[in-house]
Amino acid sequence: MNRKPSTDASGELCAASQAQPNIALVKYWGKRDLALNLPVVGSISITLESLWTRTSVRFVPGQQGDRVSLNGRSDEAEAKRISKCLDLLRKRAGVGYGAEVASRNNFPTAAGLASSASGFAALVHAGARALGLDLSLEEQSVLARRCSGSAARSIFGGYVEWAHGRLADGTDSVAMPLLDAEAWPLRVAVAITSTAAKQVGSTEGMRRTAETSPYQSAWIDTQEADLGVARDAIRARDFDALASISEYSCLKMHALALAAQPGLLYWNGATVECMHRVRALRQQGVPVFFTVDAGPQLKAVCAPSAIEQVKAALRDVPGVLDVLDTGLGEGARALASDWVDA
Ligand code: PMV
Repeated sequence: MNRKPSTDASGELCAASQAQPNIALVKYWGKRDLALNLPVVGSISITLESLWTRTSVRFVPGQQGDRVSLNGRSDEAEAKRISKCLDLLRKRAGVGYGAEVASRNNFPTAAGLASSASGFAALVHAGARALGLDLSLEEQSVLARRCSGSAARSIFGGYVEWAHGRLADGTDSVAMPLLDAEAWPLRVAVAITSTAAKQVGSTEGMRRTAETSPYQSAWIDTQEADLGVARDAIRARDFDALASISEYSCLKMHALALAAQPGLLYWNGATVECMHRVRALRQQGVPVFFTVDAGPQLKAVCAPSAIEQVKAALRDVPGVLDVLDTGLGEGARALASDWVDA
């Protein structure tokens, strides 16, 4: 069923939405279908609060092609991915004309902070509303997944699981909420150790890993058990159990990728030093653990009472350029205005 399309004063179809990045605690690495972006394993993540992407979409009847502005600039490669994502929405709505898209992140793009997750979640959310498509959150999660795997999880807030699914068409590879952010309001400190764009993107990294890493089958075979442990830890709000399974999953994913040929080394010296610092804090009784994605930034997840101590410890590590700090937040949502300039 379609809802009434959103129109602005000039009668165009537009809407603006916000979504936040998520960070996987039990990692996704590997695709079982490249075209549909289907994962070989399920994953569990937390959606962040104060880092965001805000995206406005305006469909313009009669317009050929899309016009895209990202953080106030044009970016050809990203514009292509955005058009492909809008094509999925256009197909659902049965329209053929182009759109204007303006999107802004309040955090560094393409530096291992999951900007594509928040970006495509916000785009699907805004685009669907602009076209009057009445999509459930599950349907939005499936569409966001087609555009960027981890974006499936940013449709939801708090603690989220993304199922790998079994169907060939991917309609069961959908994210679902496990627990609200307020039910267990952990904090996250992000140590920025480099602002350079990563050298090997996740799609290429996953392909190389699947083709050459001798640990690929062990990774797939052990994931179900890890997901079960993390689910139980989240349900029980058991910090120590979540810390242990999260560091294990992170290091296992990197071990898998390190064993590819040529090996994928996403860390720099400061990333490793931050890991030692987090473990030293935990040994002193501070409730904190680390996780690292396909980039050099380290994310330290901690109890709210520990955040200042964790930030100070990470700031102290040579090579750490900045430390961001956020709580856990909600999923994708509409912004009050239909157009937010970016
Ligand atoms: O969805 P992508 O292509 O950004 O891949 C994400 C891969 C990791 O961040 C390393 C793990 C994850 O589950 O988010």
